[in-house]
Amino acid sequence: MSSKIILITGANSGVGFAAAKVIASASPNYHVLVGSRNPENGKKAVSELQAQGSIKGTLTDIQIDVNDQASIDAAAKTIEDKFGHLDVLINNAGVGTPNGDIKTQLERTFQTNVIGPIVVTHTLKPLLLKSKSPYSIYVTSGLGSLSKAADPNDPYSQARYDVYRASKAALNMLMIQESKEMGPKGVKTFAVCPGLVRSNLRGKTEADVSAGGHAGDPDVAGQTLLSVIEGKRDADVGKVVHKDGVHPW
Ligand SMILES: NC(=O)c1ccc[n+]([C@@H]2O[C@H](COP(=O)([O-])OP(=O)(O)OC[C@H]3O[C@@H](n4cnc5c(N)ncnc54)[C@H](OP(=O)(O)O)[C@@H]3O)[C@@H](O)[C@H]2O)c1
Repeated sequence: MSSKIILITGANSGVGFAAAKVIASASPNYHVLVGSRNPENGKKAVSELQAQGSIKGTLTDIQIDVNDQASIDAAAKTIEDKFGHLDVLINNAGVGTPNGDIKTQLERTFQTNVIGPIVVTHTLKPLLLKSKSPYSIYVTSGLGSLSKAADPNDPYSQARYDVYRASKAALNMLMIQESKEMGPKGVKTFAVCPGLVRSNLRGKTEADVSAGGHAGDPDVAGQTLLSVIEGKRDADVGKVVHKDGVHPW
């Protein structure tokens, strides 16, 4: 059986790294392209993943900066030359809200969390359309839900992160629109919420990584992403899925 080719952006850290581990551990037929904007970090991630012992599939590092069109084009050419198609695109790379005035925060957050992933999908669309069963997946957040943000009884209703929340709401809207366009062409589009898990999104101190001790294991997020690409969540295509169900808009 030929390999399923899976690209994960921002896979050198956090959710992306865990997803690469869980997916490559699930089947000898999965070839995971470990996307990293810094090539050295990508190579280090692949070495660490290969040392896990659980890996059954194959892994290759690939440089991709979602904010750099030349880098995205080069990644697309590499995938086309080596494999001729792409089965699964996991747009995972993202940032929390960077420092700066409100305009800077908006520009930087929307650039990486909204514009970057949409441009990556647009560039890789021809390769996805050559797959027999393509998936286009965006890693979003339950914090992007408008109705949860407006619900005073939601546990996160008082959490601010205004710009980050807005970026994920915008990403969710573009995901819905993509699903309407790409669904009839055979592409299954999803947004996936990893839940609150350990990563460098909030910073690099232990308190930041663990969100003050509240963050869970990112492998659980990897399992959610695996369930999507294995077709187990197909009934919820075009929605924001999490490990236990679907987030409201
Ligand atoms: N962790 C959580 O609790 C949580 C909850 C909900 C949603 N999420 C989402 O999960 C996704 C992954 O974040 P994470 O939590 O795993 O944080 P993380 O550990 O900081 O990982 C983020 C990844 O994105 C990469 N990245 C940032 N800007 C990039 C760019 N311009 N081009 C390519 N890669 C870029 C980072 O690369 P560098 O290492 O080079 O910076 C890193 O590999 C994000 O979309 C985030 O919003 C996370």
